[in-house]
Amino acid sequence: MMKVLIVGHGAREHAIAKSLAESDVELYAAMGRRNPGIAGLSKSVEIMDINDPRLYKKFKNMDIAFIGPESALATGVTDRLQELGVQVMGPTKETAKLEWSKAYTREFVDDQGIDGNPAFRVCRSMRDIRGFLKEHPDVAAKPDVLTGGKGVMITGEHLHGASEVEAYAAERIRSDGLVVLEEKLRGDEFTLQAFTDGKRVEVMPLVRDYKRAYDGDQGPNTGSMGSYSCPDHGLPGLSEVSIRKGTAIMKRTVKKLADSVDRYKGVLYGGFMDTERGVYLIEYNSRFGDPEAMNVLSLLRSPLLDVGWQIVDGRLSTPAFEKKATVCVYLVPDGYPVEPKRDTPVTINPPRNSELFFASVHEEAGEIRTTTSRAIALLAKGRSVSEARERVYSDVPLIEGELFHRTDIGAGV
Ligand code: GLY
Repeated sequence: MMKVLIVGHGAREHAIAKSLAESDVELYAAMGRRNPGIAGLSKSVEIMDINDPRLYKKFKNMDIAFIGPESALATGVTDRLQELGVQVMGPTKETAKLEWSKAYTREFVDDQGIDGNPAFRVCRSMRDIRGFLKEHPDVAAKPDVLTGGKGVMITGEHLHGASEVEAYAAERIRSDGLVVLEEKLRGDEFTLQAFTDGKRVEVMPLVRDYKRAYDGDQGPNTGSMGSYSCPDHGLPGLSEVSIRKGTAIMKRTVKKLADSVDRYKGVLYGGFMDTERGVYLIEYNSRFGDPEAMNVLSLLRSPLLDVGWQIVDGRLSTPAFEKKATVCVYLVPDGYPVEPKRDTPVTINPPRNSELFFASVHEEAGEIRTTTSRAIALLAKGRSVSEARERVYSDVPLIEGELFHRTDIGAGV
């Protein structure tokens, strides 16, 4: 039987593991902390530092590995597994640089003549920072390291006035040697997730996620509180033209990367801003989004294992997705993300109308308890977003504990 390694321990990886388990496989899991959902599907589980490539020798007899989180891609876990003779569905360290270095990506996109960058400067001094702010007082300031989505600071939202921008940018230069300043883009954000074998780029159904903690897009930013997708695989208000423009930027990036660096093999996630002046690239991620993975994988009709093999073999064909809507809702500890209540018990009554994905919980004497991060995701499908919404919210009360959730995921769609 085929031996498949899954790396990671969140709800995204639980979704990947569930999809893989639909094929005839033996699943092995490398996790930083025990995810009871993934563990239940796996023949064996290693709790380890998943970001340390030196610890992967024990997996040398795997046939293929699926890597979930960007942190492991950024440290070269793909490269290490490939050295050990394991095929990997996930980019190498060099190609995953599209996510782990914002400066690299902006410069690559410009150097390769790909149309998609806003005005930006890679700043290494106060002089650079002040020079850019003179031309563009409203900016997005981006660290050049992985920050789990929490490091980007935007004028008017997180930073107020030039002095706050200067102070933050200077702090990043002190810690990382540089910071990327970009003109602040105004418009509608959208993301495209695509499978790619480094040549072909196959876009998945579009998903909208909700980053703010509270209803009405209020409160602090989070890892995301939920997401929805539509039966036609598009998003309300987003034109075909904009989707085509975003897809074209991704296709050119993959092609130029193959020509000048290496073939990017895995999932590429493009964040875009649809503005009055056109579509701009906000950033790339080198993996499935979380929670977006739950939405698209629940619709994927082609076995994920087959898609993975097609990617590593460089013969990707168009995957099939069900024409249904999905709504995913995260249940998170009270106080999340500022002062999350950790170690409180969670009672799970089996969901009736939705699927459950474990995110960050720990088990103690058979009891599931919260950590400081998102605990559990529920996802339902339906013929419409409102049907999927009704189904998922009908199951939320079955998860009992000191938890909260947003009540407006997919509302009004
Ligand atoms: N949902 C956003 C991300 O995974 O980066």
